[in-house]
Amino acid sequence: RKRVAVLISGRGSNMQSLVHAAAAADYPAEIVGVFSNRADAGGLAFAAEHGIPTAVRSHRDFNTRADFDAEIEAVLEGWGAEIVCLAGFMRILSEGFVERWRGRMLNIHPSLLPAFKGLDPHGQALAAGVTEHGCTVHWVIPALDDGPAILAARVPVLPDDTADTLAARVLVEEHKLYPEALARVARGEAWLD
Ligand code: GAR
Repeated sequence: RKRVAVLISGRGSNMQSLVHAAAAADYPAEIVGVFSNRADAGGLAFAAEHGIPTAVRSHRDFNTRADFDAEIEAVLEGWGAEIVCLAGFMRILSEGFVERWRGRMLNIHPSLLPAFKGLDPHGQALAAGVTEHGCTVHWVIPALDDGPAILAARVPVLPDDTADTLAARVLVEEHKLYPEALARVARGEAWLD
């Protein structure tokens, strides 16, 4: 089983979906640690309850992005992580860090990339008037919310949708998509050229 670290900043529901998937004996990856840049991230309690090591480091305690990322790197090394999953991790990572993890780091973004990168993708989708929205698991490259898609899932946009109702519909798909995408990567069925 591939050793996977998950980076979160908040609720951590996608991290939870990965932990639940990895509980199956035939899942090709195990979650060896959960890192948060925020001490108040809700997902930390879930990880601890499930016996998964956690680490919290505030980016505010580091002078530069590179210093902070070196600290993340040290934590990941301590866990023996082979793959990194960003799951609602709301910090931009330095180019050096991203390049070191090239082909071994995934992110989930709640839009059908390349549409609606960055913040408030659901609000962006409603403002654009699209009839279809969704989520994408993609390889992380230095450009934000860019990098080749591994898997995507679609949902309809309904006439009465608000950003919240749309986000909830997408989140149901995220929780299925991320475990499937990670499984493909861990089995060597998806790779970054
Ligand atoms: C998820 O919808 C995730 O796709 C999104 O934040 C949410 C985190 O929820 N990520 C981004 O917007 C990244 N740019 P979670 O903490 O419950 O997984």
